[in-house]
Amino acid sequence: MAAKIEDIGACVFDAYGTLFDVAAAAARCRDALGDKADELSAIWRTRQLEYTWLRSLMQEYVEFRQVTGDGLDYALAALGIEDDALRQRLMDIYMRLDAYPEVKDVLTALKSGAIKTAILSNGSPEMLSSAVDNAEIGDLLDDVFSVDSIGVYKPHPSVYQMAVDGLGVDAGRICFMSSNAWDAAAGANFGYRVVWVNRFGQPQERIPGNPEHEVKTLEALPPLLGL
Ligand code: 2OP
Repeated sequence: MAAKIEDIGACVFDAYGTLFDVAAAAARCRDALGDKADELSAIWRTRQLEYTWLRSLMQEYVEFRQVTGDGLDYALAALGIEDDALRQRLMDIYMRLDAYPEVKDVLTALKSGAIKTAILSNGSPEMLSSAVDNAEIGDLLDDVFSVDSIGVYKPHPSVYQMAVDGLGVDAGRICFMSSNAWDAAAGANFGYRVVWVNRFGQPQERIPGNPEHEVKTLEALPPLLGL
């Protein structure tokens, strides 16, 4: 049995890939994308993230919806797909991504354990409120932090500082969950207690910061917290 994570004041969650299924948009358009759906999803996600890192380094911040659209445009061009209606359909779905099946029950368990809960995400406020409303988890979250208020993307340390300041909980008492290995590493490097939700069976990144725990889904979180 994995050692418990003790003295936690708040659980903070990454959004895309951790609470919300980033592959759902392309999957729901498989009728139009055919056998290109998975490749489109992969190129789209990769460019979306790369553009956040590049824009932070270039000090050329724009909000995540723009970056998401730019990544999609690159992916569509890479696959030779020219279809404005399909692009709009994919972006509309991205605004209301499905939550992973265990999310609502896990957040409910944390709230019953009197633990503060929050999202900390690159997503814009509009994107996050749309996704939270669609997943019907708004009443299970104490706060939603978007990088849009500081104008720089993860993994800049000032992003992780947002949850410390916003929740009034020291980093060492924040349990941070992300499916993105780079985000999990950066959160650990910042000082969070980190549970890497390795949904996609990826190897650990070779960058500073080591998560304390690696799990397959969020279902493992409440027992880790002794709930
Ligand atoms: C986030 O939601 C990009 O998944 C990352 O911040």
